Amino acid sequence: MTVHIGAPVGRIAETVLMPGDPYRARWAAETFLESAELVNETRGMLGFTGTWRGHPVTIQGSGMGMPSLSIYANELIRDYGAKTLIRIGSCGGMQSDVGIRDVILAMTASSINTPSTGIFRELNYAPHADFGLLRAAADAAAESAAKVHVGGIYSSDVFYDERPDLNEQMVRHNILGVEMETAELYILAARYSVRALSVLTVSDHLQTGEQLPSEERERSFGDMVEIALKAAFA
Ligand code: HPA
Repeated sequence: MTVHIGAPVGRIAETVLMPGDPYRARWAAETFLESAELVNETRGMLGFTGTWRGHPVTIQGSGMGMPSLSIYANELIRDYGAKTLIRIGSCGGMQSDVGIRDVILAMTASSINTPSTGIFRELNYAPHADFGLLRAAADAAAESAAKVHVGGIYSSDVFYDERPDLNEQMVRHNILGVEMETAELYILAARYSVRALSVLTVSDHLQTGEQLPSEERERSFGDMVEIALKAAFA
């Protein structure tokens, strides 16, 4: 076990899906995995290990924001040997052709700041998805009912953003959506030579103010989980 994950080494699979919400980890494990077992409940950040089509998979909550995700991703990679980490999360849509329920495959993740900013200093590093995973997810997405977009997203440090001018520039430069975790996930994956991808469902829209009704969330999030699992084992 580690400081934040109670599972014994060996109880975490090499492939880990990471929703922000620990309750969504439970829902995804119960819905998509066979023989899912609870392997972590330290601080309520639930993690489950089971199999999907015979492949071992862990679904571990990351919490919200890059500092929280960084703790779990560091321990999963460095202490448990995770090799493929796929974030399954929600994001706010930022383009007029990106609708509620659409799925975004995050090719890159821009940010103002990440937990790694201190080590990069003057370098403006470009966090990016693993190409093989991204290509496999795009192929899987083509078979799903979801409308899928592939492109750049923004990983923010704040949910309640006080910078409308920055939003304008991001919209102008084709950023598809905003969330709070992916840039650091991609940086850690590069640092430790593992694969990472974020598959995101648009849950709200920054321009229209539209929100995904709560009763529809599960079905929409299901497309995303299926795309992530197919990409992991393509
Ligand atoms: N902002 C930041 N993170 C988010 C949002 C948002 O609008 N929606 C879902 N995650």
